[in-house]
Amino acid sequence: MPITFEVTEKDIAGRLGRLKAGHRTIRTPALLPVVNPHLQPVTAAEMQAMGAEGLITNAYIFSRSEDFRERALSLGLHRLLGFDGLIMTDSGSFQLSVYGEVEITNMETLRFQAAIGSDIFVPLDIPTPPDADRGQAERELGLTMARLREAKELLGPDAPVAGPVQGGRFQDLREEAGREVGELGFTFCPVGAVVPLMESYRYGDLVDVVTASKRGIPASSCVHLFGAGHPAMFALAVAMGCDIFDSAAYALYARERRYLTPSGSAKLDELQELPCPCRICRSHSAEEMRSSAECERLLALHNLQVSLAEISRIRQAIQDGVLWELVDERCRSHPQLLKGYRALLNHAGSLEVFDRVSKRRFFYRGSESCARTEVVRYHALMERLSLPPRVLISMDGREPPGFDLALPFRPPFGPYPQELGETFPIGQSEIPDWDEAMVCAGCRGIQRLIETHPGCRVAISCPDEWIALVRREVPGVEVVQ
Ligand code: GUN
Ligand code: ZN
Repeated sequence: MPITFEVTEKDIAGRLGRLKAGHRTIRTPALLPVVNPHLQPVTAAEMQAMGAEGLITNAYIFSRSEDFRERALSLGLHRLLGFDGLIMTDSGSFQLSVYGEVEITNMETLRFQAAIGSDIFVPLDIPTPPDADRGQAERELGLTMARLREAKELLGPDAPVAGPVQGGRFQDLREEAGREVGELGFTFCPVGAVVPLMESYRYGDLVDVVTASKRGIPASSCVHLFGAGHPAMFALAVAMGCDIFDSAAYALYARERRYLTPSGSAKLDELQELPCPCRICRSHSAEEMRSSAECERLLALHNLQVSLAEISRIRQAIQDGVLWELVDERCRSHPQLLKGYRALLNHAGSLEVFDRVSKRRFFYRGSESCARTEVVRYHALMERLSLPPRVLISMDGREPPGFDLALPFRPPFGPYPQELGETFPIGQSEIPDWDEAMVCAGCRGIQRLIETHPGCRVAISCPDEWIALVRREVPGVEVVQ
């Protein structure tokens, strides 16, 4: 049976959806916790009880251990792990990226993944590191694509195989890879080789690589961000259009005695309090957790709950149309996330086409809000207003005579006809006292209105304190006193 994906709601380029593989369906965005059979602080059954609808494990690890290999082949992964949700398996490509080689071929790993009852198989793609030069990125991408073609040819078009998108840091290669993977018929596309970017907090580069891949991947495909990550970056990744995460962070951080929060992490040894509503944190003091013989496991349980809860929060934000607000909040917790957020805002022009028409609210949260998709879309709308010959834009509520129409002004959007005053975004926007950034953004709306209505006389009635800025931002405009 093919992997299918259905989108039910959107916000920015993020979506709520349903991913179906075999007879198993999960809601997206989803977190697939990584299960390592050798050292597992939390069992798969516990994960299911915590609300994880799917998990990911590494087929290569199973194939290299005689004991695990035989049990996986005879019982199947679902019975072996005690998990009846969706199980995705990785191929050994990650080991390839760490150790440089693996003792398995593409078809061997795919057939093994099928034999142990995986719901989604991953071919032996080549994760090209971000510092690789163009020649290496092209060669390795060629090899990855050949393996994807081989998988389709030998397992058939409907086999539940993921189509990883590689291409290193080269945006044109990523876009082309995304397009080819789509053309080959893959409906589930992991964006690969981004772990080094996330490990070194290069969120700006991450955004550029993922948005480039997304430009090529068909909008109807489910997108998995391979190896992500920390819950603080989930909202940013979802806003770019990532649907699936496969985090090992809950276990890796626990091993280092680190305590995850939705906005960062802390050293357990430095905590006096456990500021989290989960069952573990409410039933232990920081000191009790530290001195427990089960400390690592308790931390892993907490870390996983935090990660799963963040996914729920994101799903609700998409439902309500407030994902920008959540991204803004999360990305202010680390300067490199802020860099990623700003990189995402730089792509607002291409994200706008995916964004929904109406949302619950637009909360202004500072100058970054001026670059949001809703502002970009609003400015594009200026062109479509039909206007009489003499138009006044009233920034101060005054309506001096001599005009056929007065348009009120709402920063960061700009002028608006009365009939749009109750609709999104004008009617649902909440702004504090005007600041320079938002008035400048509103002036871009005015500028656009003027440029697209050359036969129209446009004048502005403006509070004294903003006159200089308006004259600077809308050069040559008539300001009525
Ligand atoms: N895990 C983290 N990154 C990757 C990747 O690029 N490919 C595969 N197969 N697994 C990964
Ligand atoms: Zn907790």
